Amino acid sequence: MRNAVYPGSFDPVTNGHLDIIRRSTELFDAVIVAVLENEGKAPLFPVVERVEILRECVRDLPTVEVRSFSGLLVNFLESVDARVVVRGIRAVSDYEYELQMALMNRELAPGTETIFMIPAVEYTYVSSRLVKEVCRLGGDISRLVPPLVLERLVEKLGNGARI
Ligand code: PNS
Repeated sequence: MRNAVYPGSFDPVTNGHLDIIRRSTELFDAVIVAVLENEGKAPLFPVVERVEILRECVRDLPTVEVRSFSGLLVNFLESVDARVVVRGIRAVSDYEYELQMALMNRELAPGTETIFMIPAVEYTYVSSRLVKEVCRLGGDISRLVPPLVLERLVEKLGNGARI
């Protein structure tokens, strides 16, 4: 069985992430979305909520499982018996960081392969960071995130945001 892990912070999940998840289900028998418990980075959404939101968003995708992880990604890969990491690449600027991570993961666990996937063109500029910033300042992000994320962002960020 070919399985893959799609790791990230998902703070919060965007339509760009969901696009990559959908595309990866076409390539792999099972896709595990691995949500990093990065409390050190002071995420807007606690990991439990990020996992809950993601599970809701992938309800129609039976081959997708959502889990949280902490520590090294390669240790998580081993725990779920996977060696393939999926990462989305939007622009050339993503490449340098992604290359470093892919090579470091291969250094740590030599069987690890990283597959880079390109999202639909309409999401190539979308990031969790920008979505939060625009929402906080009252901009319309309704086409960039799933409805549940929009709802939760408005709850968290208060009046600056609008639906
Ligand atoms: O969505 P992000 O924040 O770009 O995801 C980054 C992530 C979670 C893939 C990366 O930070 C990660 O794998 N963290 C786990 C710790 C680890 O294994 N670090 C060494 C990898 S180079």
